[in-house]
Amino acid sequence: MALTPEEASASSEKICRTAPVIPVLVVDDLAHAAPLAAALVAGGLPVLEVTLRTPVALDVIREMAKVPGGIVGAGTILTPSDVEAALEAGATFGVSPGATDKLLAAAEDMGLPMLPGAATATEAMALLERGYRVQKFFPAEASGGAKALKSLASPLPQILFCPTGGVTPENARDYLGLPNTACVGGSWVAPKGKVENGDWAGIEALAKEAALLG
Ligand code: 3PG
Repeated sequence: MALTPEEASASSEKICRTAPVIPVLVVDDLAHAAPLAAALVAGGLPVLEVTLRTPVALDVIREMAKVPGGIVGAGTILTPSDVEAALEAGATFGVSPGATDKLLAAAEDMGLPMLPGAATATEAMALLERGYRVQKFFPAEASGGAKALKSLASPLPQILFCPTGGVTPENARDYLGLPNTACVGGSWVAPKGKVENGDWAGIEALAKEAALLG
């Protein structure tokens, strides 16, 4: 079912207001999908972004979508075929580091609510012009961090962001205290070592700490 950019943004806002942190997940082993999602949901982070950067990513989405309480989206959506594959795997939202007309048109036609990325005022304005008032600020730290995002709030107060890229437990509050930030995205809640060792209790503990950042 097709979606307007305004409908996609309403959906993204709801997702971004669910928890202060969206874990950005790079999962190499399908067997990790269910316990990883369960640990993050149990820790208070139900919104999960599975990056389409590993060969098993679509199957990981399929497995995570079965975990009760999880809201599973696909990240690193770059092309119309990514949109199609993400929807087919059961993703309920999509995240992109940027945005192109072709990508947004495909997501709107196929009905995948997108959180498209912007790093500059011009990029953010182009997305707003199309109807996307909820956007990912990427790469957040490299683009000037919370200071840069705060500067965008003055001329563009109608845009709500999810800063991602270089966000850590140390700087997350700098973003979350801004009026134009709904949540942050970050990979720190699911570190590679803990995932590979199956340290689900450790990941749940990190999620609990992250859930308190908001
Ligand atoms: C990514 O591209 O992997 C995300 O932006 C997460 O970035 P991070 O690893 O800096 O949190």
